[in-house]
Amino acid sequence: MAVVRAGVTLLIVSSIACSQRSAPADDPEDQAIVEFAGSYPTEAPPPGVVREFEIVAAPAVVARAGQDRLNVWAYNGQVPGPTLRIRLGETLRVRFTNKLPQDTTIHWHGVRLPNAMDGVPNVTQPAVPSGGTFTYEFTPRDAGTFWFHPHVRASEQVERGLYGVLVVEDASPPAYTQDLVWVLDDWLLDPSGQVAPQFNTRHELAMDGRWGGVVTINGQPATTLRVRPGERIRLRMLNSANGRVFVPDFGGLDAKIIAVDGLYLRSPMPARGFELAPGNRLDVELTFAASLPGPLEIWDRFMPQRPNKLATVEVAGELVDTPRFGSPAHAHVPRWPNALAVAAAHTFRLNAKTGGAFGISWMIDGVAFQGHDHMMAPSTSLVRGKFARWHFVNESARIHPIHTHGMFFRLLARNGVAVDEPFFRDTVLVHAREEVDVGVVPTDPGIWMMHCHILEHAEAGMMTTIEVRDP
Ligand code: C2O
Ligand code: CU
Repeated sequence: MAVVRAGVTLLIVSSIACSQRSAPADDPEDQAIVEFAGSYPTEAPPPGVVREFEIVAAPAVVARAGQDRLNVWAYNGQVPGPTLRIRLGETLRVRFTNKLPQDTTIHWHGVRLPNAMDGVPNVTQPAVPSGGTFTYEFTPRDAGTFWFHPHVRASEQVERGLYGVLVVEDASPPAYTQDLVWVLDDWLLDPSGQVAPQFNTRHELAMDGRWGGVVTINGQPATTLRVRPGERIRLRMLNSANGRVFVPDFGGLDAKIIAVDGLYLRSPMPARGFELAPGNRLDVELTFAASLPGPLEIWDRFMPQRPNKLATVEVAGELVDTPRFGSPAHAHVPRWPNALAVAAAHTFRLNAKTGGAFGISWMIDGVAFQGHDHMMAPSTSLVRGKFARWHFVNESARIHPIHTHGMFFRLLARNGVAVDEPFFRDTVLVHAREEVDVGVVPTDPGIWMMHCHILEHAEAGMMTTIEVRDP
């Protein structure tokens, strides 16, 4: 039934494309579905070539964050963990071993996958105990930049260094001269230069989570981006910080956003002012002219009065031919002009109260999630393949990057003003006292997490689940 329906929808879309004269669906919900068709695959691909990786989470000592010997928790002894690179169509198999002193799991942030592989303790799998193993296996349906991290005590485990990047390359990748991964993070160190061992402090909970003073890219506080004139590179950025938001400023560089949260844009847009909140990914295309005025620097300007220098750009060496190819950012992203007319399927209220395990509880709809070992009823449910509008009301004075597992959504409005972002997201920053509307068409049944990606807020209750039912 579902398969047949999807086929019919596709047919409708192509006939609109050919004739431009087909009668539009009059129900805004049906209209949204018609516009959605072709955005990304709704059916799971058959398993392809299996790419196998071994991942071990364990304490390690690394030279990172400006320290020679930083005690961290790491995947395969590295911070960031390994970048897993596969091609679209390939199947990822990860044999995971937990050598941490705590339970853990691996969650594949942004990947649409079978619910059982989502890495959420007691929701999709039992937590992997210390000494335990688990095999994650799935075939991604989307090419793009994704990441993985624990979903147990994440405010501690991610902060200690547990995160890695999953790159799903296009079936035939565009010919960039370099394809780089930048993991942005910040570190709160104690006077001895080690990761400050108090987590979920009252201060962090009252504010926007844990912000550290040492900002790093791939673990290093001072980064130099080395390119030759003429290069056309792809830079995949991930914000793995617990709470810090980055707004990358590429200065005079020719920088275009081609993908957000993994997926390509409708068309490239200037890389200016994008709020890279915890969990977000941003793929930027940088083209370097034959001669460039220096100095070239990349800054974070989330707080304009306290900017952070992210990197120095060094353009040197022999001129290379700039590869010519059309931008890969030409995805079908629905405009959904009438989506705000669809009645909200649910309104999520974001707020806090005093009390709870950490002194402050963060809540969704007046309820603080009690941790993954206290199962709670889903906040709301969705029907697979159907459009729904969600409304978020931030009743608090803090920011909340709201993240959904297992589905993408498109921002529809901020404070009631329609916004046509030319891309889907899995994480959107909701500002203090702001109201946000998103449109979503879930493709996969199951119980999926939705939570604030400020990991301290999540730990203190700002999590819930969404049930996606089959039609
Ligand atoms: Cu990075 Cu539950 O997410
Ligand atoms: Cu929050």
